[in-house]
Amino acid sequence: MEINNVYKADCLPGFKNIDDESVDLIFTDPPYYQNRAQNIINLKNHRDIVTEFKFDGYASEEKYLQFIEQVLRECYRVAKNGASGYLWCGDDFVSYINRIVEKAGFQFRKVIHWHKTNPFPAIHTRKMFANSMELIVHFSKGTPKTWNYKQVNEMHNFIEAPICTGKERKKHQTQKPLKVCIPFIEISSNAGDLILDPFMGSGTTAVAALATGRNFTGFEIDDDYCKIINERFTEFLLQNPNFKGKKPEIR
Ligand SMILES: C[S@@+](CC[C@H](N)C(=O)[O-])C[C@H]1O[C@@H](n2cnc3c(N)ncnc32)[C@H](O)[C@@H]1O
Repeated sequence: MEINNVYKADCLPGFKNIDDESVDLIFTDPPYYQNRAQNIINLKNHRDIVTEFKFDGYASEEKYLQFIEQVLRECYRVAKNGASGYLWCGDDFVSYINRIVEKAGFQFRKVIHWHKTNPFPAIHTRKMFANSMELIVHFSKGTPKTWNYKQVNEMHNFIEAPICTGKERKKHQTQKPLKVCIPFIEISSNAGDLILDPFMGSGTTAVAALATGRNFTGFEIDDDYCKIINERFTEFLLQNPNFKGKKPEIR
């Protein structure tokens, strides 16, 4: 597999093309599980909930968790010793994910909290708080080999930033901001390292890798999202005319 491209494919069969112990960092945001939101009567039509639960297609919660475990086992196989992994998840699944990363062979390290300063407001008649928090599970294959210490107050398991707006915002419902992703990528990898994201979505991990001088590889199963990733690549090259690498592609 040639690096610095996104492959339009299902990641599970796609993993077969990635060598053992070849990846320096895993940074990923798997599809969320939808059915739980739908179980709450009338909630599925609310923007703040639906945005977090679009990607379904898993017959049951058990099957969904099995899928995540299969992906994490493949991540473990392709990760180098000492590689870190970051996996986004909702608060309802975080304790499952913590255990699954360990079942797959990784060491669980910490849950990181992203506080969205501009979440979609909660509809007060639903008597729920706004969904202003997303979680990232940090794990590693053995002790992390790369740990680029920043300022003390940047090493908290908490980060505050708005959800994507303006030019950064693409038509992807669970797009994560570069401002939130880049600090963790900088802490856990070095320039020239290879970052894997099996679920590229709108391509945030790939763009973050380009912006920080890392390499990337990964998959996205959806045609429309692949088009968005391609647009983001073009946008990146226009904004960075001195970029030395080849134009990343969707393959
Ligand atoms: C939560 S989103 C990722 C969003 C991304 N972090 C961003 O900032 O745009 C998960 C993505 O995984 C994709 N996906 C779901 N199942 C997949 C599979 N088996 N292989 C590859 N991609 C998949 C979905 O189409 C979706 O775009």
